[in-house]
Amino acid sequence: MSILNTTFQALTVTEKELLAKAQETMYHAYNIYSGFFVGAAVLTSEGEVFTGACMENASYGLTSCAEVGAIQSAFSQGYRDITTIAIIGGMDPHSEGEVVSPCGRCRQLIFEASQVAGENIVVILSDPTFKKIIYTTINDLMPLPFGPLDLGLNAGSNTKK
Ligand code: THU
Repeated sequence: MSILNTTFQALTVTEKELLAKAQETMYHAYNIYSGFFVGAAVLTSEGEVFTGACMENASYGLTSCAEVGAIQSAFSQGYRDITTIAIIGGMDPHSEGEVVSPCGRCRQLIFEASQVAGENIVVILSDPTFKKIIYTTINDLMPLPFGPLDLGLNAGSNTKK
């Protein structure tokens, strides 16, 4: 695959719903320090959706990204087969802007999930209003990655399914 500019219209119904969930969650961002809104939603192979919003802290370094919340929520409820993640955000949650792109730490977390799932996770990035959308995969966002397989571990072997 690659890193493609696309439109909301061109997404599948499931992808549109996933992005809409991420947008809904974005409005709940606890962002009193940066004022930056981010929401994320992950889709599992079973069709379950889990969401997260960024959550900041007076001790700034403790801030947790939206992606962390969404991925941790899925894993915490026993769903490790993540196939797609939608990430949306911006300074003004109601205005068109640039897509929000996952930080390096979040790319590593998404990559871990991809080795657990045994597939290249689709990553959909959006501005707050669905006007700018990028369609890509974690492998495209993270060349030469390091993951559980590099440690000789079968990351998928511990899942309950
Ligand atoms: N943020 C995310 O939630 N995900 C990212 O991938 C990039 C940054 C949040 C963290 C913080 O609350 C705000 O955006 C500004 O950095």
